[in-house]
Amino acid sequence: MINLDRNENNYGPAPECYNVLRRADIEHLSYYSVAYRKGYKSILSQRLSEDFNIDEKRIVLGYGAEDLLKQVVQCYLNENEKLMIPSYSWWYYKKIASEVGAVNVEYPLIKKEDEFVYDVETFIKIYRDEKPKVLFISSPNNPTGNRIENDQLIAILEEAKDSVVVLDEAYLYQDTNELVLEALDKYPNFIVLRTFSKYFALAGVRIGYGLLGKNHDPLSSFANRYLGYNRLSEEIAIAALDAKEYYKGIAKKMDDDKKSYYKELGKIEGFTVFKSEANFVLVEIPEEIKDSLKSFLTQREINIKFMNEDALNKHLRITLGTQEENRKVIDAINEFALVNA
Ligand SMILES: Cc1ncc(COP(=O)(O)O)c(C=O)c1O
Repeated sequence: MINLDRNENNYGPAPECYNVLRRADIEHLSYYSVAYRKGYKSILSQRLSEDFNIDEKRIVLGYGAEDLLKQVVQCYLNENEKLMIPSYSWWYYKKIASEVGAVNVEYPLIKKEDEFVYDVETFIKIYRDEKPKVLFISSPNNPTGNRIENDQLIAILEEAKDSVVVLDEAYLYQDTNELVLEALDKYPNFIVLRTFSKYFALAGVRIGYGLLGKNHDPLSSFANRYLGYNRLSEEIAIAALDAKEYYKGIAKKMDDDKKSYYKELGKIEGFTVFKSEANFVLVEIPEEIKDSLKSFLTQREINIKFMNEDALNKHLRITLGTQEENRKVIDAINEFALVNA
């Protein structure tokens, strides 16, 4: 089976990550970390602090970005307060507020010809009306694949100074955006979440981090683990951060394959492939072929996500696999289109 339904990275992590496991010894397995003796909470937060030139106390670690989103909600959102989320978003965004008895307020993303975009004017209008306590912005967003523009992000941060603004960069596929780091210094309510699951192909290791604006002592304490973190996960993550060339090579292949998706599936009658800055593409298809395409691909052992949400129910979300896998998917869909033309 070719599994391309969960936005994982089928290339796998850099070889150096496996070497960490090969080198593992009693220190990693039987003893708590002693990073605190050096004045920081973990070797990974210390490393990230150096990389991003941000105080180590303003970095939190979690069991992936999922866990960090949950921690933000548990820490800041109370019963009946509001969480503002994109209307098209990762399913967990829609569920998370209910964990603390809070409620969702959705803001729309606009669908253009072949891309989705953030609509800050409407965002701000909804924000003023609803006064949410916490906002989620996802960039690139799952499943639409688009990023928020820098000036749009700043406009939101300027407006939403009384709320906690979370930028979920789980799908960051390029170097850190300097503007985001500057915004963390300027806007004390701002939080940026990242993960090793996607770009770094470490979803199974479950590790992610948050970079915090200067007013997040409550979250920093809430997220702190006095006995430390998973020592192997931390070392694997650091090995991944060091393997820049390996990951750049994969990102380049994915960019090339994305172009093939745009070009080859985009020309099938009734198909729209939306521009994506993430490791997946969203494709709109004629509704009437949804079921037959699904069984056709299943027969060929290709597993992609057929969306089944209110406004996104004639859409496929295809995770970018290896070049060989992507070729098989494109060829299979083309074959289906030829037979069913
Ligand atoms: C937008 C978004 N944020 C966060 C996550 C969670 O990632 P992690 O594996 O770091 O928990 C996902 C997972 O698919 C996602 O789509």
